[in-house]
Amino acid sequence: MTADTLIINASELVTLKGPRRPRQKSEMSELASIPDGALAISDGVIIDVGSTESILRGHDAAGIEKIDASDQLVMPGFVDCHSHLVYAGSREFELELKARGKTYMQILKQGGGIYRTMRDTRAAEPAELFRQSAKRLESMISHGSTTIEAKSGYGLDKVVELRMLETVRKLSEDFPATLVPTYLGAHAVPPEFEGRADDYVSFMTDEVMPEISRRKLAKFCDVFCEKGVFSVDQSRRVLLAAKKSGMNLKIHADELFSTGGAELAAELGAVSADHLTKPSDDGIMAMARRDVIGVLLPGTPYSTMSKDYADGRRLIDLGVPVALGTDLNPNCWNESMQFTISLACHKMRMTPAEAITASTINAAAAVGLEKKIGSIERGKRADVIILDVPTHAHLPYRFGINLCTKVLKGGETVWERGAT
Ligand code: NIG
Ligand code: FE
Repeated sequence: MTADTLIINASELVTLKGPRRPRQKSEMSELASIPDGALAISDGVIIDVGSTESILRGHDAAGIEKIDASDQLVMPGFVDCHSHLVYAGSREFELELKARGKTYMQILKQGGGIYRTMRDTRAAEPAELFRQSAKRLESMISHGSTTIEAKSGYGLDKVVELRMLETVRKLSEDFPATLVPTYLGAHAVPPEFEGRADDYVSFMTDEVMPEISRRKLAKFCDVFCEKGVFSVDQSRRVLLAAKKSGMNLKIHADELFSTGGAELAAELGAVSADHLTKPSDDGIMAMARRDVIGVLLPGTPYSTMSKDYADGRRLIDLGVPVALGTDLNPNCWNESMQFTISLACHKMRMTPAEAITASTINAAAAVGLEKKIGSIERGKRADVIILDVPTHAHLPYRFGINLCTKVLKGGETVWERGAT
């Protein structure tokens, strides 16, 4: 096979070469880095990886595009495996409420939070919903995310939930990122069903899911399983029906209270349980036994002004494969996996190598794509980013700016620093 593009001279090339499954425990520290590394790409696929010298020896030819990554870090594109990318409006005014001591749940119960965004999203024209979401997506790509999971959950009816998933589909057609759609109708009980959460569950399972399944609009189904939102039993009903409809499962689990979400994720064989700030010990052990990925979202306690960060160190040490996501949503407007990685190291006691594994191969597994992306290995898609730091240890260490200089999606440069 003839290469069409080479990336050469990387001061560190993080390959994450290894098993095509989520990494656990000490595996999460193994980046399989190559100093002075390089890779060869043909038709969007990685065909060779090694030292610059060996790659040039094997593949240099006239007409080949050579990208010089001297003094820079080269690594797989970030996989943001938990985002609420599609919504209309903003909630910047809630920041002051939070600063004055209001909790996330108090704001939600007073008709703010998810309900506020539900009203804005229902009221937005489809083109406007697309435009606002597209702006965020462009920014996420420029910060190195090449695959992004995107949830519904601000329609909480049939028409707008489907519209959100259609928006995800259209965004993936128009932008150079792989988007993984998730149905999150069970994000809150809508006002039309106030006090009748069980009826709303039936509405989702009987009216909405068949349509989603017929039109293949979602790969995953997610539930906000939380005290005062959806109980474990209600969450189980939603997820069992989703499984029957062909969706894989995720759970917003044990975010604010120890609710039993981690146990439910293990019981149902969910791909991931997300948030996990308050999982029980039994829940953690059950997740580790069933290889349920723990998706940690340190942007969320940061934005809710909470001291409760998930204990990433403990989860890893107990054998839960950990992944990271931004949780981008109007409460936590975080478009950057770089910032997320920095928070994971500073607030959840994860090492730089673990946070990088959690944002690439493990996050790819959290969206079911670990065989195709998440590492720089022969046969994988050439989703590759170049960052203006000499080694991976600098990535969480230098926060608050965009370190990316180039983003390649399927071998094509889709963003570069300084280009307009
Ligand atoms: O993952 N916790 C529930 N859902 C989102 C927040 C959604 C919102 O506040 O709009 C989360 O943090
Ligand atoms: Fe979320």
